[in-house]
Amino acid sequence: MPGKRIFITGGASGLGKAIALKYAGAGYRVCIGDVNQVRGAETAAELTASGCDAFFIRCDVTRLEDLLAVKDEIINRWQGVDLVVNNVGIAGTAGPIDQVGVDDWQQVLDINLLGVVRGCQVFTPLFKQQGSGFFVNIASAAGLINAPQMSSYNVSKAGVIALSETLKHELAPFNIGICVACPAFFQTNLTESMKSTIDGLPARVDRLMAHSRINAADIAEDIYAAVQNNSFWVLSHKAERRLWLIKRFLPFVFDALMKKKIAKLFTPPRAANNTDSLPEKTG
Ligand SMILES: NC(=O)c1ccc[n+]([C@@H]2O[C@H](COP(=O)([O-])OP(=O)(O)OC[C@H]3O[C@@H](n4cnc5c(N)ncnc54)[C@H](O)[C@@H]3O)[C@@H](O)[C@H]2O)c1
Repeated sequence: MPGKRIFITGGASGLGKAIALKYAGAGYRVCIGDVNQVRGAETAAELTASGCDAFFIRCDVTRLEDLLAVKDEIINRWQGVDLVVNNVGIAGTAGPIDQVGVDDWQQVLDINLLGVVRGCQVFTPLFKQQGSGFFVNIASAAGLINAPQMSSYNVSKAGVIALSETLKHELAPFNIGICVACPAFFQTNLTESMKSTIDGLPARVDRLMAHSRINAADIAEDIYAAVQNNSFWVLSHKAERRLWLIKRFLPFVFDALMKKKIAKLFTPPRAANNTDSLPEKTG
């Protein structure tokens, strides 16, 4: 019997590729969509060489017509799809709110948030028709913790979390499942797309990614388990999971931690000192 079917946006690199390899190993047929044709073709070749029924299709998640074409191609080849992973994301432009332009905001929201919206819009009617399906939306711990200097990225990921929470209950009556992954830093090619108005910030983010104890394959494993168990949250990094719980249940402790530790990771030294001299917020 042919295996189940998965479509992954941004499947040519990083987490998307790790998810493709995990599901290929589990016997799935795999379609990856990406704007990077070289890496897409390489990943598809790697999947096919492992014995997987896999193909790459060029797909830009900012173009609804690209996602519709993927859906048609998948129906032609496989008559349907079981799992759609809305994984594409870019780092966007980091920097203070008064230095990052609206054009940069529009780009990051168009890719990170509306890309996920389009993926859900295109595949929900097919899932409804099939009477089953599952969305995996890739957000970030950034959308839960909201560290300074990263406003457009944080907002895009908080939006993916809000969308996923909304659809969890909206789509459940149609037997459509959903989970949202909120990883912290791990090593990928993400900073290739990062711009910053702060000198040295992309290099600092690169170092945080390089020092992560968790890699893309670990997160792919957690996602696989969440889909199997129909669990909603995928929070692979222990420290960020703890921080999120502190934020929800002990908000004053969270504010103190943000001020003393987290904010400094993203803030240039002079601005960090200025922040220290501000009076404590009370509300
Ligand atoms: N790496 C991290 O530390 C980290 C942390 C938290 C969340 N994430 C999220 O994980 C997801 C995967 O990112 P990654 O870290 O593997 O990065 P990556 O850059 O290695 O992979 C992203 C892929 O998306 C593709 N892509 C970019 N724009 C596209 C578009 N418009 N249409 C189609 N494909 C496009 C790129 O070509 C690339 O292959 C993203 O949503 C990212 O925000 C990453």
